[in-house]
Amino acid sequence: MTTLFAPELPALIDLVRNDGYAFVTHDAMGGMLERDGGLADWATFAASWNDLAPDTYLAAHGRYRRRRHATYSALAGQDVTPEPHQAHFQALTYNRLQGDLQRWFEPMTPETASTASLGTILRFCHHAFGTLAPQVPRWHIEVHQFRIEASADSAGEPTPEGSHRDGVDYVLVLLIDRHNIASGTTTIHTPDGQLLGDFTLTRPLDAALVDDPRVFHGVTPVTPLDNTQPAHRDVLVVTFRASDIAEASA
Ligand SMILES: [Fe+2]
Repeated sequence: MTTLFAPELPALIDLVRNDGYAFVTHDAMGGMLERDGGLADWATFAASWNDLAPDTYLAAHGRYRRRRHATYSALAGQDVTPEPHQAHFQALTYNRLQGDLQRWFEPMTPETASTASLGTILRFCHHAFGTLAPQVPRWHIEVHQFRIEASADSAGEPTPEGSHRDGVDYVLVLLIDRHNIASGTTTIHTPDGQLLGDFTLTRPLDAALVDDPRVFHGVTPVTPLDNTQPAHRDVLVVTFRASDIAEASA
């Protein structure tokens, strides 16, 4: 195991730069997010995971996941700004299950998009990833709200495509909530499958940051602790992909 705690942004930047990923605990993440504006409306933000839409593309494979999606952009040194609702696209190279497919997901609601918590998280990502890659003039940013549900007869699969890359430059995986969930361990691998590290996101704000071109990531299936009760795992995934200024006007 290489990394677990990163109390300050410069230390976190160093971990990602050196190892290609970092796991960040609730306390460390909370401190860094406080400095980027705080999470005063966290309860409202987290409650919005109760209103996600079924992933109809995944349902076609007999699996179950709920989600919403939003797109943003940011010019270097400037604020993160919303972009029109658009499709999510991953090349087949990056998603063996659902690659080369324009997937239209339900948009994040305006109420969720306007929370201070989301603004803080996006600001934090821009600071972190912009520091790691200061040469990037413009970022294409996608935000995914995910809920994986597990039941006694079917484990939930947070990453049904297995260990993978997202096909971007940087990824933040932030735990929002776990309810009656066992396992669901985040794993980091070399491109040839060797395990580099693992961390189970258990407390809200536990997080993983990933340099996506360098390392693969996955999450083990989740199962209920108590088979008679509802069980879910809620995460926020934010991806940053370098784009050029021309893409902004295309
Ligand atoms: Fe991923």
